[in-house]
Amino acid sequence: MALLVSSWSNGVQSIPKDYIMPPERRSGDFVSVCDEIPVIDLQENPKIDRSDIIQQILKACQEFGLFQVINHGVSEKMMEDMRVLYHEFFNMPVDDKLGVYSEIWRNTGCSLYTSGFTYAEEDVHYWKDTLKHVCHPLEEHTPSWPEKPARYREEVGRYAVEVRKMGFKILDLIGEGLGLSEGYFKGVSQDQAMTINHYPPCPNPSLAMGFFGHTDPNLITFLQQDQYGLQMCKDGKWMGIDPIPNAFVVNIGYQLEIISNGKLKSAEHRAVTNSTAARTSIGTFFGPNPSLPVVIEPAKELVTSTSPQMFKSYQYTDFLVDFLAYHRKPFPRSGTPLDPYRL
Ligand code: OGA
Ligand code: NI
Repeated sequence: MALLVSSWSNGVQSIPKDYIMPPERRSGDFVSVCDEIPVIDLQENPKIDRSDIIQQILKACQEFGLFQVINHGVSEKMMEDMRVLYHEFFNMPVDDKLGVYSEIWRNTGCSLYTSGFTYAEEDVHYWKDTLKHVCHPLEEHTPSWPEKPARYREEVGRYAVEVRKMGFKILDLIGEGLGLSEGYFKGVSQDQAMTINHYPPCPNPSLAMGFFGHTDPNLITFLQQDQYGLQMCKDGKWMGIDPIPNAFVVNIGYQLEIISNGKLKSAEHRAVTNSTAARTSIGTFFGPNPSLPVVIEPAKELVTSTSPQMFKSYQYTDFLVDFLAYHRKPFPRSGTPLDPYRL
């Protein structure tokens, strides 16, 4: 528990040695917020054709692998309640968090851990604490969630249901744009997990990192963020993502790049810290159940004589093993965890 950054960093004037990134792993000074990252309005409007929205989404997925959505159907009140709830959660006394604390990252159940996937093996640590839990089916998982704040399970449960609806709405638009059969993504086993990353104020953000550059291994991610800190890499250049109040950042994961047979790109992203305020991001992840044998492969409809299969079929569990092994490799690393799966 003593390891959580939020348990010892309050008021520290400089960062401990084992949080100082080597220069090549720092974010660098000149990353600016990019106003080209698409913001897509999902408001149902008789004047706007559904096919226009689909085209905007597809273009965003092809060019950036990441976009923001507004008027997505999850109420502002619910999003605000989440911000308040997680502020309270991360500020609770350490003893109140013991029930979910874990020294290691776990893929299943509920855990509150610090830094990257493997604190004990890391040469340098990341300036973040993370609460992670599965959300679907809800009744099966809520008993593992935090007991405090007392309203946690009820409020987060309601939020998870609303985000699931929004998620499938967006996946339906993507599926339609790709030419997949109706309800394609509902037909694939679709687990749902939440990862809440908390980045306490950091006395020297230019020496530290919040979250290393990565691409999400799952299908698609919906992220609510309250402050600047998220960056994405496009054509080798890092750019900042504007935190639009009550918007969701939508991230294409490796799995969707594969299902789309490479038509959609997944986005590499990372998070930086700041010295003035804590930042908390609330992410919802759709993807296969990591404990079940689920085969991932390009959708049959998208493999044709003019568009040959670009990725092998594989078990999601095997991919996760490779994904983690990649992130345990010492720096500098080359390639991506997806490379061995390309044909
Ligand atoms: C993630 C992630 C970004 C953030 O949890 O996969 O990329 O801003 N989070 O915390
Ligand atoms: Ni991510």
